[in-house]
Amino acid sequence: MSSPSKAELIHVFKGIPFTTRSSPELLKSLDNFDAREDDVLLVSYPKSGTHWLAGIITKLYNTQVTLTSPIEFGDVSKLEELDKLPSKRIIPTHLDYNMLPPNFKKKKCKMIYISRNPKDTAVSMYHYYRDNPNLPTVDTWTAFFDLFLKGDVVCGSWFDHFLSWEEHKNENNILFLFYEDMKKDLPKIVKDITVFLDINISDDEIQDICKKSSFLEMKTNTEKENSDPNHTVCALTSNRKLIFRKGTVGDWKNHFTPKQNLRFEEIFNEKMKLSNM
Ligand code: A3P
Repeated sequence: MSSPSKAELIHVFKGIPFTTRSSPELLKSLDNFDAREDDVLLVSYPKSGTHWLAGIITKLYNTQVTLTSPIEFGDVSKLEELDKLPSKRIIPTHLDYNMLPPNFKKKKCKMIYISRNPKDTAVSMYHYYRDNPNLPTVDTWTAFFDLFLKGDVVCGSWFDHFLSWEEHKNENNILFLFYEDMKKDLPKIVKDITVFLDINISDDEIQDICKKSSFLEMKTNTEKENSDPNHTVCALTSNRKLIFRKGTVGDWKNHFTPKQNLRFEEIFNEKMKLSNM
């Protein structure tokens, strides 16, 4: 059987490529989404550690919380489906700031943005493209590298996504996190998250959650469970087993040629001129 073509898997909405698992009708209707003041948004560009963070956040609450599927995932019935869920809802999304339903902004919902070195993000996304039948085929790393730099990948340009959120980094209801900081000192970052979300939890409990959220632990647990499409926090797959690949910092060094690195740095410096990163 031949694999589906790019046109069958991807459509472009407001200039940003989405998979056909996000229907254009749903994307259009997002502006009417009725956010609740206690919703927590978990925002990321794909492959930045979304599942890791989602796993941690759900463990932090000792009250009932619902981790939903991403707001942009599904068809137009999605808004109704989310509306039926009890509070508190933890809602993942890969949307850039400009596409976020305005009610989240008006109601000042808490939002956590997780980011990762774009070089490692690119490598992680390359492997995801190769393993995920919902994404177009890419033949080589070199071909994917060009697509990533052009922003011709799902969710568009990493730079545009990051910059759209970074502009709002200092707003009180937004917490900015980095994958690399989580790798370096997870208990500290988890502590920061609890302060931001007003969660009262002891240091021992934090240590325990960090242990349960290690790459190995999460990977092993996922391999044991039956894949449940409702468990996904990424609009690009319903197969959680594709998520836990390597979980390291600096894997880009095993993929980038010196020439690619130079080109990436040039584009990074140009695009991120106004960034504080
Ligand atoms: P790699 O492909 O580099 O291994 P997302 O959840 O946003 O799709 O991000 C997936 C990336 O986060 C993958 O990166 C995955 O391995 C990594 N990841 C998932 N859980 C992790 C954990 N507990 N610790 C470290 N990295 C983790």
